Amino acid sequence: MDSTRQIRNLALIGFMGSGKSSVGRLVADQLRFSFLDTDEVIVSRVGKSIADIFAQDGEPVFREYERRLVEELGAQNKMVFSTGGGLPINPVNLANLKTHSLVVCLWASPETIWERVGHQTHRPLLNNPDPLAKIRELLAVREPHYRQADVLVNTEMRSVGEVAQQVIHQFRMAQAGRQ
Ligand code: S3P
Repeated sequence: MDSTRQIRNLALIGFMGSGKSSVGRLVADQLRFSFLDTDEVIVSRVGKSIADIFAQDGEPVFREYERRLVEELGAQNKMVFSTGGGLPINPVNLANLKTHSLVVCLWASPETIWERVGHQTHRPLLNNPDPLAKIRELLAVREPHYRQADVLVNTEMRSVGEVAQQVIHQFRMAQAGRQ
């Protein structure tokens, strides 16, 4: 990692159901950082659910909301960001996050993701006759982007608490390497 990088914040990226929000909340608590979920901010600013934004305005409009929000995050300090699963697919977003955050990707297999999110209905991209096939397809396209993270943490067979400890360890190492 570039030794001139600033690591003031921590950004979690990864596929839907990889655990970004639950792990992010725990990590923020333990580091005494504030927590921000990009989906939640967009929903509260726009005043519509993600499903309604996708259905009424279209996915490109949602991606533009994400891009604008990411631009603002550089002004933050001591924050943990949980980002929407498609956000790092725009390389501009990833490059932006890396100017102030350690970027950690939470990884899970398509089957595990399916087990975790299969019963949920609020994710428009998974409202598909064959959600597992859709997860596999999206993950294959996104994997090269997720791999651009500074650190990849496998969440398979690990509790939220275990993953959070791993993330905190990586964050402390990255910060120590910068002092
Ligand atoms: C999306 C993931 C969702 C949300 C939207 C699109 C994606 O966030 O941003 O439904 O493209 O993978 P989570 O990863 O928090 O579920």
